[in-house]
Amino acid sequence: MTPSDLKKLIAEGIPEKLPDVKPYDYNLNHAPKRKDILNSSEKKLAIKNALRYFPEKFHPVLAKDFARELAAYGRIYMYRFRPDYEIKARKLDDFPHRTTGAAAIMLMISNNLDCAVAQHPHELITYGGNGAVFQNWAQYRLTMKYLSEMTDEQTLVVYSGHPLGLFPSQKDAPRLVVTNGMVIPNYSSQDHWEKFNALGVSQYGQMTAGSYMYIGPQGIVHGTTITILNANRLISKSGEGTNGKLFVSSGLGGMSGAQPKAASIAGIVSVIAEVNPKAIQARHQQGWVDEVYADMKNIIRRVRQVIDANEVISIAYEGNIVDIWEAFADENIKVDLGSDQTSLHNPWAGGYYPAGYSFEESNHMMTENPGKFREAVYQSLRRQVEAINRHTNRGTYFFDYGNAFLLEASRAGADVMNSIGEFRYPSYVQDIMGPVCFDYGFGPFRWVCCSNDPSDLEVTDRIAKEELERLTEKAPDQIKQQLADNIHWIKEAAKNRLVVGSQARILYADAEGRIAIAEAFNNAIAKGEISAPVVIGRDHHDVSGTDSPFRETSNICDGSKFTSDMAVQNVIGDSFRGATWVSLHNGGGVGWGEVINGGFGMVLDGTSDTGNKLRMMLHWDVNNGIARRSWARNKEAMFTLKREMDRTPGLIVTMPYIADDQIIEEALEKQ
Ligand SMILES: NC(=O)c1ccc[n+]([C@@H]2O[C@H](COP(=O)([O-])OP(=O)(O)OC[C@H]3O[C@@H](n4cnc5c(N)ncnc54)[C@H](O)[C@@H]3O)[C@@H](O)[C@H]2O)c1
Repeated sequence: MTPSDLKKLIAEGIPEKLPDVKPYDYNLNHAPKRKDILNSSEKKLAIKNALRYFPEKFHPVLAKDFARELAAYGRIYMYRFRPDYEIKARKLDDFPHRTTGAAAIMLMISNNLDCAVAQHPHELITYGGNGAVFQNWAQYRLTMKYLSEMTDEQTLVVYSGHPLGLFPSQKDAPRLVVTNGMVIPNYSSQDHWEKFNALGVSQYGQMTAGSYMYIGPQGIVHGTTITILNANRLISKSGEGTNGKLFVSSGLGGMSGAQPKAASIAGIVSVIAEVNPKAIQARHQQGWVDEVYADMKNIIRRVRQVIDANEVISIAYEGNIVDIWEAFADENIKVDLGSDQTSLHNPWAGGYYPAGYSFEESNHMMTENPGKFREAVYQSLRRQVEAINRHTNRGTYFFDYGNAFLLEASRAGADVMNSIGEFRYPSYVQDIMGPVCFDYGFGPFRWVCCSNDPSDLEVTDRIAKEELERLTEKAPDQIKQQLADNIHWIKEAAKNRLVVGSQARILYADAEGRIAIAEAFNNAIAKGEISAPVVIGRDHHDVSGTDSPFRETSNICDGSKFTSDMAVQNVIGDSFRGATWVSLHNGGGVGWGEVINGGFGMVLDGTSDTGNKLRMMLHWDVNNGIARRSWARNKEAMFTLKREMDRTPGLIVTMPYIADDQIIEEALEKQ
């Protein structure tokens, strides 16, 4: 296909001629059948909703098609409209466009749907089981068409995958505003999502799926490495290293698959249970997990062997995590660090597989007998917690890794609460990411080289390393370790060969670091040292972007952790400070209704105008959260904010006075 033919197809929108039905590709990983939640009149509505994307002449054929899809998969994906060209990150000029911002957005969307990157590419799911880019292929086609036509005096508006249209705006405005899963708060239960999604009116955008900022598993490898390293520092009171330490967890899926790789980078032996043989095979072939065992005796023998020999390897157990926790407790295997990364944000539709049932039995039960499946999940969670408690009584440090494990376990009635009614185990943000990273402004800054050329990525790696090293010279002691971890990471990044899909990189940096790196990239683009624009962005799992009481904001203790002003303000603030696109989501990570999060993308094109925008926007994008965390009296954030106010003219933030608890207690006693 010639480049111009490809451009025509990308810009085609809804085709004039009805494409043929496409065969179901059994070689790919597909989304599980979703719950049959609509009544008969709602099913009619779902089909009517789907048909509004197409001219009436197609309706007799498509109505049957869509009715079949709804019955077979619980959703209408419009499979026949999936384009025939390969969807993947390409260089900007390969995308039809009139403005660079739109081409960069097309690149990012295409990466999220690349078969080598996405979890269920044909169902338009990037990760996390239900993290959708679009709800159906008509939305993809129309969005690409709009982006190919838009000028820099228009803004595309996308409601949960549906491209509402192009609206006149102005050059400095975002080119795209996305919202995902925003609902009236009282309509935000798991079943509401199932229903609205089946009707085709809302979607679960996760974080970087529906905001077009996914960069493959690299992002989570970095975050997990930082988490495991700091978890080990937390339990190594006398500064002992990682030798002979064991980490146990579950899941080798989209994100969870990073765990064995990250544990090995951190120098810790890992055992990760996974019930889906396809997921194990993918991670094993990729080299992210070293050895696979289905037999418990063999795994126990092998774990003892590697711990005794001080080796670092990663092991997959083909089976249920509950069996591992129970067998390791019975066999007195010492687990130093423990967690869980099943998809418990989505427990009833394939996110968590209950112990005592095969993978196939569970898949059948969840659609055919949802009541029984629910009870099996709860029973399994109770067993899992009981076994974990046996380990923690012997010294294991167990943490919730942002998958709603503690939340669902508590709903299951598992023994997971302490005497004052709080979870007996911390979320990783409470103990690790919050005080060590977020409160100092360190979060997941990422970039993508729009040339799609690995040599540009090499240049950006070098620039980022130099900037972090330069900042380390004057950094206060409080953030030297964070800088050192990230300098180490970026030095090793190319060697670890983490690029899958777009030429992307991630590291953790604070506001000063993010601005310094972005500015240096912009200057290098101006000088031609980097050959094309660079997109900067971040995961939503960050300092300011996410209000999530059991994860990102779990270390906020002034009672405000169930509010979401910070995340909403963040997106609004980014949008008028220079972001190329912004997105705001309900759900993501811990589940629909449990979190509000937002993100941005910004195209660096080497101009001085962009230089001004990046300084203004990145400063807000981090310091909004620092100011909120400081107001919540987090001492690390108060330190960071004071430092920021000293060096930033115009930044004047309300600081808290710290009341003495005794004064309050005495005041209350006298009532
Ligand atoms: N902490 C973070 O930074 C972070 C980041 C991203 C995602 N998450 C959360 O982590 C969870 C996992 O994300 P993902 O993208 O890997 O999801 P995923 O659905 O791709 O993978 C989860 C895996 O767990 C397996 N599994 C389920 N129940 C099991 C059981 N009982 N025993 C063994 N294996 C079991 C599934 O087969 C699946 O492969 C999600 O809830 C996600 O929201 C956390």
